[in-house]
Amino acid sequence: MRVLAICGSLRAASLNRKLLRTAAELAPGGMVVEETGIRGIPVFDEDIEAKGLPDEVAALRERCFAADGLLFVTPEYNYGIPGGLKNAVDWLSRRVDGKQPFKDKPCAMMGASGGMGGTIRSQLQLRQSIQLLGALTMPGPEVFVAQANSRFDAEGKLTDAPTRAAVEKLMAAFGQWIARMKG
Ligand SMILES: Cc1cc2nc3c(=O)[nH]c(=O)nc-3n(C[C@H](O)[C@H](O)[C@H](O)COP(=O)(O)O)c2cc1C
Repeated sequence: MRVLAICGSLRAASLNRKLLRTAAELAPGGMVVEETGIRGIPVFDEDIEAKGLPDEVAALRERCFAADGLLFVTPEYNYGIPGGLKNAVDWLSRRVDGKQPFKDKPCAMMGASGGMGGTIRSQLQLRQSIQLLGALTMPGPEVFVAQANSRFDAEGKLTDAPTRAAVEKLMAAFGQWIARMKG
C-alpha cells in the first residue's frame, strides 16, 4: 500500500515535515509512505494551464494517481490552508483527459502549528475543498499538534509521547480506511 504524503510547508526546518516523517516511521506494516512537497508550483493561472500543465504539477498529479492514498501534513496560516498548498490543490483539481486525482482517493490529514488550535481550522478548510473533488477523506481520528515547537527535539524527533501515539493511531486507521475504500 503506497501513501503519498504532501507537506504543506516549504521551509527547511518545517515542523510539519518532521511530523510527516514521524508518520512514515510509525506507519503500519505493509504501508510505504513517500514524501513530496509543493515547491516550484506556479500560482494557478488559466492562461498557463491553457499551454499545458507545468512540469511540477504534472509530476505531482501522476504521483497522486499512482498512490493508494494521500496524506496531507500541513500548517495553518492565518486561520486557513497555507496558500501554497491551496494553490497545489487548485492545480490538481483540474480535469485533464476527464480525470482529476482526488476523485475516489482515500485521503487523511494531520498538522502542526504554533498556536493552540494545532491546525484545526486549516484542516477543516482542506476537508471542505477536497470533498468537492470527490476525495474519500477519513473522518477520524484527527491529529492536531498544537504549540508544536515544544513537541520536537533539536534533531527533529517528535518526542511528545501522546502525540506520537495519536500519529500512530491515525496511520493505522488510515491503512484500514484505504483497504476499506478500495474494497
Ligand atoms: C504566515 C503565517 C501565518 C500563521 N498563522 C497561524 C495560524 O493561523 N495559526 C497557528 O496556529 N499558527 C500560525 N502560524 C504559525 C505556524 O503554525 C508555525 O510557524 C508553524 O511552525 C509553521 O509550520 P512549519 O513549521 O511546518 O513550517 C503562522 C505562520 C505563518 C508564517
